[in-house]
Amino acid sequence: MTVDVPALLARYQQQVDAHLASYLPESRQSPLYAAMRYSLFNGGKRVRPALCYATAELIHKPTEATHRAACAVEMIHAYSLIHDDLPAMDDDDLRRGIPTCHIVYGEATAILAGDGLQALAFEVLTALPPADQPTSNHIHLQLVQQLARAAGPLGMVGGQSLDLNAINRQLDLDELEAMHQAKTGALINASILMGALSTGKASAEDLADLERYSQAIGLAFQVKDDILDVESQTETLGKRQGADQARNKPTYTSLLGLQGAKEKLAELHQTSNNALVRFGDRGVYLRAIADFIVNRDH
Ligand code: IPE
Ligand code: IPE
Ligand code: MG
Ligand code: MG
Ligand code: MG
Repeated sequence: MTVDVPALLARYQQQVDAHLASYLPESRQSPLYAAMRYSLFNGGKRVRPALCYATAELIHKPTEATHRAACAVEMIHAYSLIHDDLPAMDDDDLRRGIPTCHIVYGEATAILAGDGLQALAFEVLTALPPADQPTSNHIHLQLVQQLARAAGPLGMVGGQSLDLNAINRQLDLDELEAMHQAKTGALINASILMGALSTGKASAEDLADLERYSQAIGLAFQVKDDILDVESQTETLGKRQGADQARNKPTYTSLLGLQGAKEKLAELHQTSNNALVRFGDRGVYLRAIADFIVNRDH
């Protein structure tokens, strides 16, 4: 079975965008809401919501909790990028081909927009589902726990701290992998597990296989990001090409070279496919998204 990946991603994108829009309505007119909307609706690929939906479809079918999980992971992602671009962090002025949040709205509002998106993500997850689609509270607690871990000091924020403390230092391969797994892998991992948990139908065996898939594809995502920083063009990338090198960041390309990073990426791609074997044809969408992650140009 071949998958039309652009059509698949467009379908997931429409679903998540419709739900996101309901949480950030245009009727809320303030610089804070404008900044939050600016960074949420400006052309993100929506890979994390796609992984969440595709996993829910693999296990059973998306539920109201799946929509909420997809929105929540994308809100955390958007917040992480706003803060990542701040002068105190990566100091980037371009994202998705347009000026970064702090360039348009100022640093203070950008910081608050990130904070606001983070809190909103958890509010969205904890809200009660409509009465005609009952979901047990246990599922909501599992979703909150997954996201809190992935966003927190052992996840994204911890990884960002390792990243900032690693500038101008030579990391070894294990340290680099731990940093990438935390700053990027953790949220991708959560997107997949939350998709599974949101159905209420995932077995321990399902979760173990999905964990292996997500560990591989989460790391692959950042290895590819490092490769694109070297190989792509600013116009295609939508962010400044060469930013990592300019700031002396430890990356897979700086440690292994471009060829070594590509070999690592291929190895991780293979590992992600192997993890899906037991699912047979049901793994088709997750395989297609893994292909997209590895082959994307931005
Ligand atoms: C970029 O993530 C930041 C990393 C974690 C590497 P994406 O490449 O998913 O960014 P958007 O949302 O599509 O712009
Ligand atoms: C970002 O890593 C990881 C985050 C948690 C936001 P990068 O700093 O490499 O992401 P880009 O290249 O700016 O998108
Ligand atoms: Mg960064
Ligand atoms: Mg950055
Ligand atoms: Mg990068």
